[in-house]
Parts: sequence; structure tokens; C-alpha cells
Amino acid sequence: MNPKPIRFLLNGVEVQAAVEPRLHAIDFLREHYELSSPRVGCEHGACGACTIRVDGQIVRGCLLLAVRLDGRKVETLEGLCATGEIADLQQAFHERNAMQCGYCTSGMLMASEEYLQTSTTWSREGIREHLSGNYCRCTGYEAIVDAVAKVAVTRGLKMQEHTS
Ligand code: FES
Ligand code: FES
Repeated sequence: MNPKPIRFLLNGVEVQAAVEPRLHAIDFLREHYELSSPRVGCEHGACGACTIRVDGQIVRGCLLLAVRLDGRKVETLEGLCATGEIADLQQAFHERNAMQCGYCTSGMLMASEEYLQTSTTWSREGIREHLSGNYCRCTGYEAIVDAVAKVAVTRGLKMQEHTS
């Protein structure tokens, strides 16, 4: 099949390319733009390693075809770091020793930022639920939840009242 021309906003820069119709967004972004933060993990939507943000929402790069990026606003962790959007989250992860391996950390940060942006209240259970699509197979989530909770407080989110 012939490559399809696409044009989109990548980490704030307008780009264009010609992509094979069956190429996945994760492979395209990693190979064509050398963006290494989104990782190829399970390749079937289960682990969250390939998390990217499209039009403000996190999605699985392994389930999305590159041609579907046409006309969209696409962000990877590199972009979020460059603008300073997640500087407080990075600092909190560092302080709490919540940085884990290169495979899971990018997706964890992307999902954590989405939780903080879309929530008006926070709870440890809520953080865990929002991160439940991001797998780590080797250690725990406690330090990550601590780091996100800290940023929730400093960004002024109210703690959710316990209902049970
Ligand atoms: S590589 Fe996409 S969800 Fe695992
Ligand atoms: S998968 Fe990254 S530390 Fe476990």
C-alpha cells in the first residue's frame, strides 16, 4: 500500500510525514522522530508503556495507527518535560524515589499528570485506579502514589472525603 501523507502538531511543532497505513503510532514516533519516552511493551494495550497524549487525552500508542495522528495535537513525555508542565511531578517522583525503570515510568508520569489535570479532588484510591492501566511487574506502587498525592496537595486539589 502507498504511504499516506499526514500533518500534525508534535510536542508543539508542526510536522509532516508519509506513513505506511499499517504502521502503529508508537513505532512511528520512536523511529521517525527518535522519541524514546513512549516504550513498546506488550503491544496489545495492556501495559501502558506506550502512553502518549492525543488532543489532550492519554492513549495507547500501540493501538493507534500513525495515520490517525493526522490533524491532531500529539504529545509525548519529552514535550511535557520541555514545557515544564510536569516539573513538580518530576520533582516529587525524584524526592519520593518513585522513578522506576525506563519502561514504566514514562507512562506512569503521563497517566499521573492526566489524573491531576482531570480531578478536582484526590484520594489514594483514585490515584491507584487512574494508574491501574500502567503496569509495573517488578516493584510496588506506594512511592508513586505518594508522589502524585504530594503534587495533588501542592496544586490545590481537595482531598476526597471518605464515604464508606
Ligand atoms: S505497549 Fe501499548 S499498552 Fe503495552
Ligand atoms: S516495569 Fe518498570 S520498574 Fe517495573
